[in-house]
Amino acid sequence: MSGIQIIGMGHAVPSVCVTNADMKKIVDTSDEWIRTRTGIRERRFCGEGESLATLAVRAAAEAIDSSGIRKEQIRLVITATVTPDYQVPSTSCLIQEKLQLPSGIPAFDINAACSGFVYGLSLVQALLPENEFALLIGAEQLSRMLDFSDRSTAVLFGDGAAAAVLQKKAGVPFYSHLAAGGNRSALWAASAPANRLPAWQNAEAQAERKEQSGGKPEDTGTYRIHMDGRSVFRFAVRALSEELREMEKQSGIPAEKVDQIVCHQANQRILDYVRKERGLPEEKFFRNLDRYGNTSGASIPLALYDLWNEGKLEPGTRVFCIGFGAGLTWAGACLTF
Ligand code: UT7
Repeated sequence: MSGIQIIGMGHAVPSVCVTNADMKKIVDTSDEWIRTRTGIRERRFCGEGESLATLAVRAAAEAIDSSGIRKEQIRLVITATVTPDYQVPSTSCLIQEKLQLPSGIPAFDINAACSGFVYGLSLVQALLPENEFALLIGAEQLSRMLDFSDRSTAVLFGDGAAAAVLQKKAGVPFYSHLAAGGNRSALWAASAPANRLPAWQNAEAQAERKEQSGGKPEDTGTYRIHMDGRSVFRFAVRALSEELREMEKQSGIPAEKVDQIVCHQANQRILDYVRKERGLPEEKFFRNLDRYGNTSGASIPLALYDLWNEGKLEPGTRVFCIGFGAGLTWAGACLTF
């Protein structure tokens, strides 16, 4: 069996730290509510000169450095994000240009929300030839989609990026499972309906606005996150529990024996619910959502990066990664370091 293995990691944490006390100044909330209902203490937002692409490039550059390979050896670039800077080109192509990665290799983004990085692992496994190297990035700038008049979502999300360099090697076990169940109403982000009018219906007004703005490209609308928190919570617990069993079945490793279970960092209560249901110890479920909040596609690689940095992913370490989120999507992967 040939499987993928992480050989380098990098991350990029945005410069602005927003504590729950800071959040209280702009949203009708309290530190106590956020901590006890979610486990979040602070999150990071992009500041001056930072955006999704700048974070993704920083994380990717560090991952390549730490892998010990040359950037010319990268054969595939995939970015998991729901908050790209541009509709086109993809974030992966922006990274390719900025870091001068080889031309002529596949580079594209995927939208599987909070399951995006795990979807990406599976794609790398499928697309990468043996002995070659891929760059997989999870990056989000969710602060650009927050509705600060909705306290039930505004306090949850943060920005960040993390990246992995992977190699496909003979003899490395790798297992994954991807799933989706289409559901728009539980968790969605869309621009205001007026902005979705076909341009040909108001071409004159569009030309007028362009002239008034001195020829600047038009802002085609701002996306805002909407979530039915309770139904997503119920879905998340079910998805995490089922995906845990799926990974145990595929890998043959019982949850008690796996070294780490790295879940999407949405809410401490979701992780605790499943952990207690399965009678597993706290230290098996890595968490850093207290520092970053929910960073969607970046959350699993940010957690892996912290473990990597703490020296907890030594050769032979086996990790279940489990994601769940908008779509609805859910996915699991079993990595061996
Ligand atoms: O990343 C994708 C996956 N996402 C998730 O997995 C998120 C899943 N959902 C959740 O984590 C939780 O449902 C939330 C954290 C979003 C909400 O927690 P909850 O315990 O389900 O709260 P709730 O929505 O049932 O609201 C309980 C109360 C309400 O007040 P009343 O009606 O009981 O008086 C809310 O208005 O808490 C109130 N509330 C707040 N109070 C202070 C909601 N947001 C806030 C807030 N500060 N930020």
